[in-house]
Amino acid sequence: MDDESDVIERLKRMRPSWPKPSPLKQHWLLSKEIVFLNHGSFGACPREVLEAQRHLREEMESAPVQFLARKHDERLDAARHGIAGFLGTDPADLVFVTNATTAVNSVVRSLDFNPGDEILTTSLDYNACRNVLTNTGGQRGAKMVVADIPFPLENEDQIVESILAHVTCRTRLAMIDHVTSNSALVFPLERIVRELDRRGVDTLVDGAHAPGMLPLDLRKIGAAYYTGNFHKWTCAPKGAAFLRVRADRQENLLPAVISHGLNTPRSGHSRFQDHFDWPGSHDPTAWLCVEKAVRWLENQLPGGWPEIFAHHHTMAVNARRLLCERLGITAPCPEHLIGSMATLPMPGWLAIPAEATGIDPVYQTLFDEFGIELHVIRFNGRRWFRISSHLHNSPDEYRYLADAIELLLMRHGTTTTR
Ligand SMILES: Cc1ncc(COP(=O)(O)O)c(C=O)c1O
Repeated sequence: MDDESDVIERLKRMRPSWPKPSPLKQHWLLSKEIVFLNHGSFGACPREVLEAQRHLREEMESAPVQFLARKHDERLDAARHGIAGFLGTDPADLVFVTNATTAVNSVVRSLDFNPGDEILTTSLDYNACRNVLTNTGGQRGAKMVVADIPFPLENEDQIVESILAHVTCRTRLAMIDHVTSNSALVFPLERIVRELDRRGVDTLVDGAHAPGMLPLDLRKIGAAYYTGNFHKWTCAPKGAAFLRVRADRQENLLPAVISHGLNTPRSGHSRFQDHFDWPGSHDPTAWLCVEKAVRWLENQLPGGWPEIFAHHHTMAVNARRLLCERLGITAPCPEHLIGSMATLPMPGWLAIPAEATGIDPVYQTLFDEFGIELHVIRFNGRRWFRISSHLHNSPDEYRYLADAIELLLMRHGTTTTR
């Protein structure tokens, strides 16, 4: 009979069969050697959009002053008009920013808080944005209040009830995620914004993941402030995001970086746009390619964007079902509360979190041994993983992930709980 070390050695040599990729993956530069299940962190930009950006950059470098001074506003206005419909907003309420973190900084820095004022956030918010509240909000005298949202979660009422239970007469602003990062929950945003509004509280929506994952109608959502990234699910080049500010909140809103716009009004633009449109010398080509990315993606499926939203969601739901079934996992939230991502608890011994510092060893093993790029995270006292589903993903990739996790479980002699 084999002793234990022989068994472990044999398991180490076992490899699940490499997954069949999506035929659409060829449109991305994504490596064939990597099973890319983490679109959510930084997105991935298709070749054709990068090619459009390269052309723009060549144009910029062939006549830098024409591009960045004389033609800048014209191009930016066209880019803004080109994507306003996709977001369901009037272009007048829209500015480009580099990323959601910058937008959150701009909003929080622009508000005057009185000592004792409260900024409300949730326990599932994004660390960088939470830091803006504690640091910048804190310096202005505001106190941060955190509404605890359970995860696992049974229903959306738990989200709404916890947020509203933490509103007081001192609440000045609530920062609410549209899609949470590590837990990958889609919050019932319209309902939350409406209820906060009724209580006289403005909402800053951190919608970093929403554009391209969910159909957006920013006018209908009606939040005072909404920011989202284009470089995640809309597949624009890195450094493309937006801030939409409701008309009645634009007056005193300043960017995180003050530039010419402060004392240089332009005709045909609001003060809000004057402030944000020129952030100092920069490369605006990512912003100028957002519409290209929106149109390119739209043409990949016959049903356009509605079919893309449905495709991503269905693939994430099916992948989650498969992983739960194969690994004996209980799904931590109802299916209608996920979008194109799903977070699941790591099963068996893999649930035990590693030391809080450095690269997670389970993440490292999945990448080094199996070529899987997966978001592996620690929160609520255990280890979790988050899958993403985009057009470049195939159902077989999640089967491969289940095979790899099963092998890791067997190596330590514990299989699933089934
Ligand atoms: C919910 C959420 N907010 C904000 C961000 C920050 O995005 P960025 O780094 O592009 O500013 C992220 C990034 O993943 C996120 O998941």
